[in-house]
Amino acid sequence: MTALKNDRFLRALLKQPVDVTPVWMMRQAGRYLPEYRASRAKAGDFMSLCMNPEFACEVTMQPLDRYPQLDAAILFSDILTIPDAMGQGLYFETGEGPRFKKVVSTMADIEALPIPDPHKDLGYVMDAVSTIRRELNGRVPLIGFSGSPWTLATYMVEGGSSKDYRKTKTMLYDNPQALHLLLDKLAQSVTSYLNGQIMAGAQAVQIFDSWGGNLSAAAYQEFSLAYMRKIVSGLIREHEGRKVPVILFTKGGGLWLESIADAGADALGLDWTCDIGNARARVGNKVALQGNMDPTVLYAKPEAIRTEVGRILASYGKGSGHVFNLGHGITPEVDPEHAGAFLRAVHELSAQYHE
Ligand code: CP3
Repeated sequence: MTALKNDRFLRALLKQPVDVTPVWMMRQAGRYLPEYRASRAKAGDFMSLCMNPEFACEVTMQPLDRYPQLDAAILFSDILTIPDAMGQGLYFETGEGPRFKKVVSTMADIEALPIPDPHKDLGYVMDAVSTIRRELNGRVPLIGFSGSPWTLATYMVEGGSSKDYRKTKTMLYDNPQALHLLLDKLAQSVTSYLNGQIMAGAQAVQIFDSWGGNLSAAAYQEFSLAYMRKIVSGLIREHEGRKVPVILFTKGGGLWLESIADAGADALGLDWTCDIGNARARVGNKVALQGNMDPTVLYAKPEAIRTEVGRILASYGKGSGHVFNLGHGITPEVDPEHAGAFLRAVHELSAQYHE
């Protein structure tokens, strides 16, 4: 394997010294980029991009080619590949987000769900990882990812996106054994899926618990965090002679950072509702932090973006352990020039915080 030319992302996740604060953007390969929209048109649709390793590699590389400041690549795929591989029949209705042909509503539905084999059932993802690693040729590390069991369960029970997670929460309170069985199957699936990605070449992994923040404090512990802890304890933590850092990102999890920091991961993702300096004081030396600029700041002018980047860097303060990112995905309406201004500001303004 080629040696990494830029490893500041991996170093910051492990709180090792860096020259400047590393940066990447959630959803960095996406619709705000004209070159992404062109590739998607060529492939036909979003899932065809994900399922063809050459296309997945092409769109993964697009933001890196445009922005030399990016310190990490993220596998181009989706969290819903697992429910699809369990037989739910994922499809995307234009402008409507993800949908499933089958929904999960009873204990019998859940008992019948298979646990996907990453190589047999999700081989296209493993191939995308190895294709991207080859193409990166050591430029920056590659991040693999999965959804959290709770977040995946909401899509499987609701049949798509949801505002209130009504069916999933009804199951949680009326039929917790059924939901626990579903979450347990998902935790097993996610563990082997992420281990497959690591063996195929992912150098760090992130678990997206996008909807964990919608749970009550007690339900979060029992129905989301417990399963992420289980996954983390089953992950391969060293590969190719290097640590493989694990990042947990619960959107809306700011009130629970102390307990998330105890789940065994190396780093926590933060949305923009918490102050990163305060978060750092709360988690202490246990974990690194990733985040946390409000993605809507990117609608503002470059000078305003730069001010906000400076404010977040100052709040985190001196030393390693911070990976700069947005607090959630970049949106399709963002001007690519503004994303560039954001990335440049992170490197330019952060040198003063490192020795
Ligand atoms: O970050 C990256 O660049 C890697 C690619 C990536 C995608 N989805 C591509 C995508 C990642 C890491 C994801 C994760 C994902 N997918 C999450 C967790 C992160 C988060 O945003 O909280 C979730 C909840 C999903 C489920 C999902 N996929 C939804 C709700 C949608 C539709 C919403 C939307 O933004 O339109 C998708 C589709 C999707 N996944 C797109 C992309 C680039 C847009 C599809 C398109 O091109 O039309």
